[in-house]
Amino acid sequence: MRLFIIGATGGIGQHLVRIGLERGHELTAYVRSPHKIAPHKQLNLVRGDLFNVGAMARSLAEHDAVLSAFGPTTIRTTTLRRDFGRTLASAMEECGVRRVQIVSAAFLFRKIGILGALLKPTLFRFMAPDMAAMEREIMKDELAWTIVRPPRLTNGALTRGYRIADGELPGHVISRADVADFMIQEAETPAHLHQIVGVAD
Ligand SMILES: NC(=O)c1ccc[n+]([C@@H]2O[C@H](COP(=O)([O-])OP(=O)(O)OC[C@H]3O[C@@H](n4cnc5c(N)ncnc54)[C@H](OP(=O)(O)O)[C@@H]3O)[C@@H](O)[C@H]2O)c1
Repeated sequence: MRLFIIGATGGIGQHLVRIGLERGHELTAYVRSPHKIAPHKQLNLVRGDLFNVGAMARSLAEHDAVLSAFGPTTIRTTTLRRDFGRTLASAMEECGVRRVQIVSAAFLFRKIGILGALLKPTLFRFMAPDMAAMEREIMKDELAWTIVRPPRLTNGALTRGYRIADGELPGHVISRADVADFMIQEAETPAHLHQIVGVAD
């Protein structure tokens, strides 16, 4: 498959690239810092802007799916996530690519456990509405979307033993490698179209 990876230099994104290449896919990594990624013959490295529809659409054309692990680190008030979602949806419409998966966050589920319930209105109070706005931009009828909401991320090993649940959170921690593995599997064999998916180890 031809997969378009966003956030490829990050924790989950590096696993998306590694697993995607291992499974023989042809990848485009659309990044702001190409120097962070090692070249590979099946990897097309593009320096790109996540907030420019035309530039993104030109690079995105003729791919089978978009996999995003984009996430700004700020917890302050921002619209970066919403603006990214809006740009991506418009770019996809412009170039006719329909399949998309984006990493969001488990704190948007209603039932999130005690720690999540404490953090959502405090530490994550600005992040949560921006994350929800990003999801809304992507959950368009014309897109074949899957929203992936992981709980707390670790740098633990790839287990492939993760649990998946549509519309709810099946646990409270998952490795970045397992999130990426789920997304590559889901690209290959879509089983959660138009679903918000909870994943956990
Ligand atoms: N941490 C958790 O426990 C947790 C839990 C649930 C959900 N999440 C979500 O999962 C996301 C991915 O996690 P992660 O650990 O893979 O994050 P990460 O390592 O911080 O990676 C984030 C990626 O987004 C890119 N990025 C950030 N701001 C950008 C901008 N303005 N323009 C272009 N690219 C930008 C980064 O690019 P650069 O390398 O160029 O900076 C990087 O590739 C998080 O950002 C968060 O939204 C996190």
